[in-house]
Amino acid sequence: MSQSLLSNKKIILGVTGSIALYKACEWVRNFQKNGADLQVIMTTSAQEFVSPLSFAALSGNKVFLDMFDPEEAESIPHIQLGQTCDLMLIAPATAQTIARLAHGLADDLLSTVVLAATCPVLICPAMNSKMYLNPATQANLQKLRNYGYTIIEPDSGEMACGDTGPGRLPEWEPVYENVLSALLPQDYADQQIVVTAGPTQEPLDPVRFLSNRSSGKMGYAIAKAARRRGAKVTLISGPSSLPSPAGITVKKVKTAQEMYDETFLHYEQASIIIKAAAVSDYRPEECQAEKIKKGADKEEISLVANQDILKALGAHKASKSPHQPLLIGFAAESSRHFEEGQRKLQEKNLDMIVINDIKGKKTGFESDTNKVTLLDSNGAKEELPLLSKDETAMRILDKILSLKQTVG
Ligand code: CTP
Repeated sequence: MSQSLLSNKKIILGVTGSIALYKACEWVRNFQKNGADLQVIMTTSAQEFVSPLSFAALSGNKVFLDMFDPEEAESIPHIQLGQTCDLMLIAPATAQTIARLAHGLADDLLSTVVLAATCPVLICPAMNSKMYLNPATQANLQKLRNYGYTIIEPDSGEMACGDTGPGRLPEWEPVYENVLSALLPQDYADQQIVVTAGPTQEPLDPVRFLSNRSSGKMGYAIAKAARRRGAKVTLISGPSSLPSPAGITVKKVKTAQEMYDETFLHYEQASIIIKAAAVSDYRPEECQAEKIKKGADKEEISLVANQDILKALGAHKASKSPHQPLLIGFAAESSRHFEEGQRKLQEKNLDMIVINDIKGKKTGFESDTNKVTLLDSNGAKEELPLLSKDETAMRILDKILSLKQTVG
């Protein structure tokens, strides 16, 4: 089955002496759940807050504390560690550690490993807001940015000491996004991507609507994957319970008509349009102003067809539009998957279609995994294995990029 996005990645977590250290303990678990091989380096002051034993137990690995460890003398840990890992995250990073790194000091194991590191280094400042805003700390952070380190902005809010302001260690989610971006190739850096996701809702009266079971998970996974690979992403989402992903412009819509308008509004700026939304094919002919009352035993609802947004985009592209984004569709199928996918690819003038088996146990709507077949306009067909939706999104983006390179 599927592997996770950090599997086989060697990550060093450097922890320093801040009250926010308890959060980093939780992050060790999160890294492991995502498949990373994690090693922890603790500064002397970090050991005042949490014992090295806790990090050893959580990470399942030896915790590095000392530059002059007789047990590791032959491997010279301060040179080895930062050169054999894929990424270093320093969180929480105190004002003292930030100052040390900004001045290239090498007077403890963590600062020495950073100085010798050849991998990306991410830093999460965490301290009292007055210390954080102090010009000396700000100048040190700017120095680190100039040296090529990534600084993850702290959250604002109430601090352990009672002060309020910036300096809190951020939540896991934005940190995880930064980690993934630092590890992934930024091969979408020149792309502006529009992704549609989720269902649409077609109102019948003030309390009822027509919709479908789409959760939005696949579309959101694609939007996030593209963002992680450097794209500028606009996500046009029907009603979904998923949180808006960080770093992505999210446009919320309800009806197919609203999705149509919003998608065409972004047509000109998009280099790639990916239509993962499950758009209602029909809507009630009329939306009643008042709640429909219970009455006869049999009630009929008259439906009218919604516009096919993707087909309209394909037709617009085939007309004289000087702007030619790559058009990618989805086909949600319960039978004759390949034939139906091929028909939609041609009828809607697409560059590629992602064929989705909605009847499979672990595939399609609501599931966290998916098994899709990619079919492109040159007739190439690629069947992907059962993967998490995050990994399926990565594989779809790999294929789109290779198409983009051939189409231009
Ligand atoms: N789509 C769309 N607008 C619609 C219906 C579908 O843009 N009104 C898009 C979907 O976002 C998807 C593709 O068309 O990318 C195929 O959608 P799907 O529901 O699989 O097929 P339909 O075209 O609706 O055809 P059918 O109902 O016959 O399966």
